[in-house]
Amino acid sequence: VPFRLEDYRPPAFTIDRVHLDFALSPSATRVVATLSLRPNTEEAQNGTLELVGDEIVLKGLMLNGIPLDAGRYEALPASLVIRDVPLAPFTLTIETEIDPAANTKLMGLYRSGSAYCTQCEAEGFRRITYFLDRPDVLAVYTTRIEARRSEAPVLLANGNPVESGDVAGTDRHYAIWHDPFPKPSYLFALVAGDLGLVSDSFTTMSGRRVDLRIYCEHGKEGRCRYAMEALKRSMRWDETAFGREYDLDIFVIVAVSDFNMGAMENKGLNIFNDKYVLADPDTATDVDYANVEGVIAHEYFHNWTGNRITCRDWFQLCLKEGLTVFRDQEFSSDMRSRPVKRIADVRTLQARQFPEDGGPLAHPVRPEIYHEISNFYTPTVYEKGAEVVRMLETILGADDFRKGMDLYFERHDGEAATVEDFLACFADATGRDLSQFALWYAQAGTPQIVARGHYDGDAKTFSLTLAQSTPPTPGQPTKQPMHIPVRFGLIGPNGEDLAFSSVEGAAVEGDVIHLTETAETIVFRGVASRPIPSLLRNFSAPVRLAIDMSADDLLFQVRADADPFNRWQAAQTLAMRALIAGTADVLTGRPVAAQPTLATGLAEVLDNEELEPAFRAQVLQIPSEADVAREIGQNVDPDAIALSRRQLRLALARALGPSLMRRYQALGVKAAYSPDAADAGRRALRNALLDLLVATGEDEAIAATTRQFHDADNMTDRLAALASVSSAALPQRRELLDAFHERYRNDPLVLDKWLTLEATVPAAETLDRVKALLSQPGFAHSNPNRVRALVGGFSAANPTQFNRADGAGFDFLADFVLDLDRRNPQTAARLLVAFRSWRALEPGRRTRAEHALRRIAAAERLSSDTLDIVTRTLA
Ligand code: ARG
Ligand code: ZN
Repeated sequence: VPFRLEDYRPPAFTIDRVHLDFALSPSATRVVATLSLRPNTEEAQNGTLELVGDEIVLKGLMLNGIPLDAGRYEALPASLVIRDVPLAPFTLTIETEIDPAANTKLMGLYRSGSAYCTQCEAEGFRRITYFLDRPDVLAVYTTRIEARRSEAPVLLANGNPVESGDVAGTDRHYAIWHDPFPKPSYLFALVAGDLGLVSDSFTTMSGRRVDLRIYCEHGKEGRCRYAMEALKRSMRWDETAFGREYDLDIFVIVAVSDFNMGAMENKGLNIFNDKYVLADPDTATDVDYANVEGVIAHEYFHNWTGNRITCRDWFQLCLKEGLTVFRDQEFSSDMRSRPVKRIADVRTLQARQFPEDGGPLAHPVRPEIYHEISNFYTPTVYEKGAEVVRMLETILGADDFRKGMDLYFERHDGEAATVEDFLACFADATGRDLSQFALWYAQAGTPQIVARGHYDGDAKTFSLTLAQSTPPTPGQPTKQPMHIPVRFGLIGPNGEDLAFSSVEGAAVEGDVIHLTETAETIVFRGVASRPIPSLLRNFSAPVRLAIDMSADDLLFQVRADADPFNRWQAAQTLAMRALIAGTADVLTGRPVAAQPTLATGLAEVLDNEELEPAFRAQVLQIPSEADVAREIGQNVDPDAIALSRRQLRLALARALGPSLMRRYQALGVKAAYSPDAADAGRRALRNALLDLLVATGEDEAIAATTRQFHDADNMTDRLAALASVSSAALPQRRELLDAFHERYRNDPLVLDKWLTLEATVPAAETLDRVKALLSQPGFAHSNPNRVRALVGGFSAANPTQFNRADGAGFDFLADFVLDLDRRNPQTAARLLVAFRSWRALEPGRRTRAEHALRRIAAAERLSSDTLDIVTRTLA
């Protein structure tokens, strides 16, 4: 049975206080939960209390301290129903037994290495005890943990430490933690084990000293330093940018190596996938460092957007996730280069969210129906959700946006809120009508804007016609026009934006056009000369823009647009046109045409010392094969796209000529490695040059790459060299891949990089190689990071081999998912998302993909996670 937003009812009972007592043992952990309950709505009058569970065993049950007769209740693995409960406050004491060692789903209480840890979002708490496991039940938790001291010297839970000591006469000890802030069960956390520690402290803006701790595997403490610095920067930033102060005496992060997702914002006890904590120059790339900084910030920012104000129900997931992604993006923009961060974020949005929004898994930022909530931690909820918040800021302006945020924190602190509550704060704080804007939360699909401009030299007017439409998506055949903020400029002949004396036809405020109708024509008067319209500056809305512009106008935009994002976008558009034309040429056997305009644009950007290196690196990186496939949209032949892209890169490298190698060498000044954004930008540019050089296959280029691989003093440069050789499928790759493996064989996070490179070689033997690696000692089916690196790398990042014409790539993924589904459904379902664009393939591959999907759908005992994805993908 699906869950529907419209069916929301407040809980009949609620829980004010929770006391948990854990007696930890690897395969038989005892949990005693004492819940202070009370009736909450009229519905409680029938006296039946229904709690949910998931694969747990009831060992004891008392109501107000008195054991309950067997006739009063029914206990199943997934529910506990109690009849004739008091119509007044009462306590329930529930004893359950759970088996953390057998918990391969990594939801609830499980083992990672020799440690115990938890993951409760979204519905994992019910795997610990029977509960009202829903986010609108907010309780104050006290947690007592007991374990053998030698097995688990560290005992952690949410909140502040209260007490700890030995259990007299045993080899066990205990700790008690108390969290004074009411929270939903999904924010509960516990960690116990023998862990290394890095400590620090932070003094908040009101002068309170907070104890900061990061726990990790022994021996990895040195790799936690960067995360600790990032945490302190995040805490300070939330104070200055949003006025948000931390609220407990201690903030703890634990890095674990078995984790389904990125990280989790449990109150005062964040638990992380270790790949988002650990970083040092020899094992982490610049991108890893940036990810660590961003994820540390994200989870910390949840303390206010997620924890202090949580979600009423899981349909509101974007209320905390979209908003918190927006906040972490802003933080990283302030720590690094704002334009480069924006380009990187839009790249991610277009690569992950656009295909979701354009395929069978499309859903609104706030879904209205779900079968399995775990499948809604999606790019749409996270990344498009962040774009919606960003549009709100664009529409209101920074000051009014901040007023709305302040009101939100003030009005809803301590509550479980909705998207309507959130929007009402901005409407109330500013007097704006946001009713049309609210459609962004309800309508799925990527809107398209078709733009047309006309300059009348006699009248000195520029008319701009904008028409919007949103394609149908599952369950939403027709769409209404949205409120789309279009940031713009009219670029004049000297590169500066042209002034205009008046404007009519649409609401224009400053440099933002508020497009609200299906089609609008805006007339700018007093425009001195023919402008080049620069639309959607800074990507002011998550839409596709179609505008008929000549290659020369695009080149001008690359040279002169005052908006760095649109300079990058114009170069991408030129490259995309070349790639699409080249793909058509490949398919019809014509020679691929030269691209002088694109080459000129890239050469100029490359040589423009006024542009920061990281930006130049972004411009040099032309659209990926997947980008081109998405743009083509139907009858996709991944081999033709790959060939066209290879030929274009070769042509560009030839056109740039010897300056490529000169530039590469000039950027090679040696200094001690630092992960800061400026140095990272120089490495990014240098490695983008190297990657183009390798595309020529010339000996000199390969020699330079091999040298960089061996001589590098940091992972960024070493991995970049290896990736260039391996993604070009050059014969030299084997030796370098083997050398890399030899060097890092004992470092799982680095081995993941190697697994991904092995899995993404665009060569026919890769599938066999991937299959062989599944039984290599470095691989573990139980570890989500290994699985995503190897199998996820193959299926989501190797377009030609996953989409092999013989269907063997599809069959492999189907077999793997069916097997993994029995142990870790969340990770299995996530891998299956690689099929989301199967309908856009050419008929041969489409048939084979459908066959693989139907085979999965027909399998017995599928998890709800995998069943949901496969059903929607085929629908
Ligand atoms: N709230 C976490 C974050 O985005 C994600 C946790 C999702 N986990 C899951 N198993 N669905 O920071
Ligand atoms: Zn989050």
